[in-house]
Amino acid sequence: MKPHVAPFGDGTVVLRLMEERDLETILAWRNRDDARIWFKNSGRIAFDAHLAWYRSYLKKEDDFFFLVEANGEPVGQCGVYHIDNGSAEIGRFLVAPEMAGKGYIGRSCAEIIRFSTGFLNLSYLFLEVMEENAKAIRLYKRQGFAEENRQDGLVRMGLGRDRAS
Ligand SMILES: CC(C)(COP(=O)(O)OP(=O)(O)OC[C@H]1O[C@@H](n2cnc3c(N)ncnc32)[C@H](O)[C@@H]1OP(=O)(O)O)[C@@H](O)C(=O)NCCC(=O)NCCS
Repeated sequence: MKPHVAPFGDGTVVLRLMEERDLETILAWRNRDDARIWFKNSGRIAFDAHLAWYRSYLKKEDDFFFLVEANGEPVGQCGVYHIDNGSAEIGRFLVAPEMAGKGYIGRSCAEIIRFSTGFLNLSYLFLEVMEENAKAIRLYKRQGFAEENRQDGLVRMGLGRDRAS
């Protein structure tokens, strides 16, 4: 079972674990043409498949998926997963279209780094981003991530000690 995590945040954004009642909202964000193109699995996702994915996620202990709220409203999502031996991947960053460019996802990235290094005690984080996703790459660089390598249009960025191979 997944450990319980109390909501946390910086006073502007609150990150709380994703719940089944959030799925319709986040799927609508995820299926927008201008959002889905930036994910490796870039096709539209049907609700049933999304629900099945969520239910299998619930059984994982190495995966935390958060809804981001500001002023009590859902504004985005993010996650930390593949947690293993002091390291993990972060990602699934997505903003509600009407909430873009307000700094919420930058703040969420800072919070998930704080959660990962503090609560989870991880020393190394990495992510993958498409090399044409300049907005996301700028955001990750502002949070301290540095490019480690790039291949087939994907950039891997890392943060922290114990650089994994
Ligand atoms: C990548 C993504 C999550 C960024 O979300 P966002 O809401 O634009 O993120 P932020 O608001 O935190 O930061 C973005 C910009 O707002 C600016 N900003 C930050 N705080 C701000 C504020 N208070 N007021 C105005 N602008 C602000 C930032 O400087 C940044 O500017 P830049 O793009 O010129 O560098 C969003 O574009 C998205 O959902 N894209 C589709 C999915 C995706 O690409 N996910 C990442 C896959 S690796």
